[in-house]
Amino acid sequence: MYRRLGFGKLTSGESLELTAVDAPDPEWAGRLKFFLRHKGDPYAGHIERALDHPLDSLRTHFYVGCVDGEPVTHVMVAGARGFGVLGHVYTQPRWRRRGAFGQLMAAQMEDVRKLGFTRLTLSTGYGSMPYDVYSSFGFRSAVPESGQMYWFAEPGSDPAPAATGGTSIRRTMWDDWGALCFALARAPLAGETTPRSPALGIDEHGSAEGSFLGLLGQLDLAGVQSYVAESPAGGVVGWCHVVPSPLTLGGAWLLDLHVLPGFDDLLGDLLGKVDWPLRPVVFPTTADTHRFERPMAAAGFANAAVLSTGKPGGSTHNLTLWWRTG
Ligand SMILES: CC(C)(COP(=O)(O)OP(=O)(O)OC[C@H]1O[C@@H](n2cnc3c(N)ncnc32)[C@H](O)[C@@H]1OP(=O)(O)O)[C@@H](O)C(=O)NCCC(=O)NCCS
Repeated sequence: MYRRLGFGKLTSGESLELTAVDAPDPEWAGRLKFFLRHKGDPYAGHIERALDHPLDSLRTHFYVGCVDGEPVTHVMVAGARGFGVLGHVYTQPRWRRRGAFGQLMAAQMEDVRKLGFTRLTLSTGYGSMPYDVYSSFGFRSAVPESGQMYWFAEPGSDPAPAATGGTSIRRTMWDDWGALCFALARAPLAGETTPRSPALGIDEHGSAEGSFLGLLGQLDLAGVQSYVAESPAGGVVGWCHVVPSPLTLGGAWLLDLHVLPGFDDLLGDLLGKVDWPLRPVVFPTTADTHRFERPMAAAGFANAAVLSTGKPGGSTHNLTLWWRTG
């Protein structure tokens, strides 16, 4: 659906039409796929699918600035339940430095507030020119000196989710994109274990923007499974993914199991959802062995090794490898 948000003016004098295209939109699909053709995998797959048909409850909004009806600048916001990912920021080279993107982003930020987004994340180079542009719209580094940025509709509102009950465990969907990126962008909470998401390539914190789409793509593969625990507020407070291991481990797959502090009682429920593949599965965690003993044993895992690990110059800690024989 096409919505006109208003008009701006480029410093070179042209009128800039500011629009939102709410996916899916068959009329705009061709033009937007062409405009964003520089986006490779895994983003291109999302762009194509979102423009062609609904992706569960994920809302994808393509914001476009047009001159004489032709797109010259773009930014996308996709998410659900108030959590969104901002990306695909691009102005055609010959239209740059004329105020196109700045005016589009101003209109887009006003619109996402109206649409009910309360938390956005994005990924850029720390201290880069786009970093400064995003900062001017209220985005801040999620951790010091990081290009992973947050925006809150109400500044400073980032309470750690409280385990108040009512959490639902279900299959991961497209509409978990924003909430999962938000959970992994910030620094680990006190007592949170690492690696936080080995399947998404995140040890302590980082961008899951692309790796989450990669995970969804893997779900077509027989045996790959992914579940999330959703809090009543719509945040993701735990997850459990079973995927092929990025390390070649004699055919073993990887278990990525994580809950936020205070949500330990979800561990058994998350593991209970898994239909275990007929192959070995490994699960690495810095969590105390005794903390995971009961749910891991119930799921058929044994504590196979405790390794000493840590960053150069930092403190060491134990990494436990849990192993399930297929
Ligand atoms: C980033 C990008 C979208 C900016 O688009 P644009 O239409 O040229 O941006 P604008 O003209 O509206 O400029 C926005 C602000 O950035 C500043 N800016 C833009 N290009 C700049 C440059 N090359 N060097 C320094 N500042 C620059 C402008 O001065 C302006 O600041 P102001 O609001 O304080 O005046 C464009 O450069 C681009 O597409 N780059 C390649 C893709 C990219 O880097 N995307 C971001 C990935 S995170």
